[in-house]
Amino acid sequence: MIFAEAPSNIALIKYMGKGAGNQPLNPSLSLTLPNFRSRVEIHPQGAEDQYQDQWRPLEVPPWKSPSLSDKGVEKFLRHFGLLKKELGLPGHFQIRSGNNFPGDCGVASSAASFAALTLAAYRLSGKDLPLARVAELSRQGSGSSCRSVGPDWMLWDDTGAREWPHGAKTQHGSTNLRHELVLIDAQKKEVTSSEAHRRVLTSAQFPGRPERARNRLRAFEVAWGTGDWTTCRQVVWDEFQDMHALFSTSNPPFSYLTKPVIEFLALLQREYETHGDGPMVTLDAGPNVHLLYRADQSSIKDLILERWPHWTVLVGREKT
Ligand code: PMV
Repeated sequence: MIFAEAPSNIALIKYMGKGAGNQPLNPSLSLTLPNFRSRVEIHPQGAEDQYQDQWRPLEVPPWKSPSLSDKGVEKFLRHFGLLKKELGLPGHFQIRSGNNFPGDCGVASSAASFAALTLAAYRLSGKDLPLARVAELSRQGSGSSCRSVGPDWMLWDDTGAREWPHGAKTQHGSTNLRHELVLIDAQKKEVTSSEAHRRVLTSAQFPGRPERARNRLRAFEVAWGTGDWTTCRQVVWDEFQDMHALFSTSNPPFSYLTKPVIEFLALLQREYETHGDGPMVTLDAGPNVHLLYRADQSSIKDLILERWPHWTVLVGREKT
């Protein structure tokens, strides 16, 4: 048996809107969440099933299997088929996969699981490929997964995915960001991310979106490099609002900005104004709020969360 694990990632500049083969229409930037992991095992196939690949849930603690629909299983196995072809792997296998965090609710479980599948197949092949090639393989299964095969900060644009060179460079200790996810609603998403990518193209706000994302990436890079947290936070805030505005203006519209999410965002904004400081805030495609903060902002983050004690908080990144 061969296995691999991969972390999830949270995008600060979002990949939303795609072309053929999951090619992104705009650059995106993400931070790895080492505590939210997927594991994929590749087992030899039994004699009775030697003519096809199969997927099975991995239910060995701490791994819990995602509740994959038939379509989800088909997509996963299709990607495995592509990997076998590209990596020259003959035969059929049984794939087992599980996550140690809730799937399908805007915590990018597909990023982690497709990256883990790609890494496991790559390991099985025994090949030695550059990171960019492994990321390219993963991207074909699930776009955002190409940002989960590399180190902490990953940049992905139409030339491929690579480490974000500015990640390690700041003077104010923000390289080592911590992450917590405030789980407001862990229900399965009704609109899959593939459908979201398609639907945002119908929004009247889509024209100009790639340009807006590129401009924010540039602004974030400059602000990060000079240690300007206020601007970084604002850029990340504007970026998730932009993506969610595309959702709510697409045809048909959909939204994750539920009442408790809006109330929590308002609280985060009030607290930021009170303290003149606070975590960066972002939402993925789901009604859950990601907080990214520096070690010296921990007390502000604690104060905020004390006001909402009824919600589950999952730690995606600790001190590394
Ligand atoms: O990789 P996909 O097709 O599941 O796209 C996910 C895109 C977002 O998670 C919504 C944003 C991002 O950049 O991760």
